Amino acid sequence: MLPTVAAVRERLSGEPSVAFVPTMGNLHEGHLELVRLAARRAPCVVASIFVNRLQFAPHEDFDRYPRTFQEDCARLEELGVAAVFAPDEPELYPSPQEVLVEPPPLGNILEGEHRPGFFRGVATVVLKLFNIVQPRYAVFGKKDYQQLLVVREMVRQLNLPIEIVAGETCRDSDGLALSSRNKYLNSAERREAPRLYSTLVWLKKELESGNQDYRGLEKAARSNLDKSGWSVDYVALQQQATLGLAQQGDRALVALGAARLGATRLIDNVEVFLGT
Ligand code: PAF
Repeated sequence: MLPTVAAVRERLSGEPSVAFVPTMGNLHEGHLELVRLAARRAPCVVASIFVNRLQFAPHEDFDRYPRTFQEDCARLEELGVAAVFAPDEPELYPSPQEVLVEPPPLGNILEGEHRPGFFRGVATVVLKLFNIVQPRYAVFGKKDYQQLLVVREMVRQLNLPIEIVAGETCRDSDGLALSSRNKYLNSAERREAPRLYSTLVWLKKELESGNQDYRGLEKAARSNLDKSGWSVDYVALQQQATLGLAQQGDRALVALGAARLGATRLIDNVEVFLGT
């Protein structure tokens, strides 16, 4: 484990090609798949573990976010990760972080609308981590679809020499997307939780069978969750590449949802490809 920027720079100096997996720890199979994907890109895989206060609003779960550092390191070691960068807050933010990365406009909708400041915090820490690790590849999960696009756009617009690789979402056998926040669910909520995914899959099937009433479908999906006790932030059909609002004739869509079950906020998405 490397706790300092200097130690990372020293360990990685001379490494010709690094594949990087940034995480906030509490690793599950979804993270491990991202690490395996990284290992297919470059022989030297680096992971980071850092719960980034900058991307949490004051009322959010920064303090109770699950931290399982020893187990995480053991799992990463088993996978042959070359280095784990795990700084503490003063190491990564030695002084107040006044220089912040302003995310592109696609970061203002959906998660950005419901979690103001979230993507600014993500983009800022990811750019810092990129500057420290200097990877050739960086792997992000599609589970956080909008985050993946915000990071891609940051890399493109800031001319960073990094290829962003997308990892598929890992799910439990009942469809629930793996997430560190699933730990917050009580047993009744855990039984209910797969409804978010099944609602998005229903949307996908409707689209595939020719239903083009996008706004009507969003409404129906939302009310399906509402009546099962969810508090819905959004269910939205957007274009995959830009997250622009889905329009008739679009072929590559993504159905995204975010909703609260009790105190736990879950997000998920399903890609939809229409036509051939
Ligand atoms: O997806 C996450 O775990 C975080 O948002 C990330 C990319 C590690 C930045 O803190």
